[in-house]
Amino acid sequence: MIIAIDGPAGAGKSTVAREIAKKLSWIYIDTGAMYRAVALCAINKGIDLTDINSIIKEVNDIQIDISHIDKEQHILLNKEDVTSQIRTSEISNGASQVAIIPEVREKLVDLQRQLANKDNVIMDGRDIGSVVFPNAQLKIFLTASSEERANRRYKEQLEKGKTITYNEVLNEINDRDNVDLTRAVSPLIQASDAILIDTTQNTSDMVINRILDLTKDKLGVQID
Ligand code: DC
Repeated sequence: MIIAIDGPAGAGKSTVAREIAKKLSWIYIDTGAMYRAVALCAINKGIDLTDINSIIKEVNDIQIDISHIDKEQHILLNKEDVTSQIRTSEISNGASQVAIIPEVREKLVDLQRQLANKDNVIMDGRDIGSVVFPNAQLKIFLTASSEERANRRYKEQLEKGKTITYNEVLNEINDRDNVDLTRAVSPLIQASDAILIDTTQNTSDMVINRILDLTKDKLGVQID
C-alpha cells in the first residue's frame, strides 16, 4: 500500500510522514533527498547547475541508494552516506534546479517505484500522487501559507545556529515554489483525488491524527 504526501517546501511533509510511518510500522521515503543527492554530486564536481547536458551525463553514472537505520532514512551517493550533507540552502535550491531535468526525474522515479515494490510505504515529494503513484490508496496535499512555511524554516535555521534573516528564508521559499510549480515536467500539483490539508493554523499532531483517521477509513488499516 502507498500513502502519497505532496506539497511545497516547509509544509511539514517530512515531520508528518515520519510520524505516520512509525505509527503504521511502514517505511518512510523522502524523495526530496534523492534530488538533493543529485545536486550535491553536481556541485561537488564543479558542474554548473544550468549545464543540463553535464548533469544528464553525471546522473547516468551515479548510484543512489536508500537505506533505513533505526527507521531513519539514509541516502547514499555512490555508496557514501550523504544524509547530513544535503541539508543546506545551497543544496535545497540546487535540488529544485536539477529537478527540472526529465532524465533526472526518470531515474529517480524508477528508484521510487522499486522501493515501493518491497514494502508498504509513505512517500513524500512533489509529484508522488500525480505521477509516481497515480493509483496510491491515499493521497494528501499538504500546504501552508508561504509566510508560515518561511517562519518554520527560519526557526529551524536559528536552532541550527545559522545566521539568516526571515526575509532571506521567505525569498528562498518563494523562489523554490516558483521553480517547482512552473517546471514543464511533473510540476508540483495537487492530484485531482488528493485530500487538501492546510497546516497554516494546525499543529503537526492535528495533521498526523487527521491522516491516521483517513488511513483507517480509506485503507482499513488497524492502528493501535
Ligand atoms: O522536499 P525537499 O525540499 O527536500 O525537495 C527538494 C527539491 O527537490 C524540491 O524543491 C523539488 C525537488 N523535488 C521534486 O521535484 N520532486 C519530488 N518528488 C521531491 C523533490
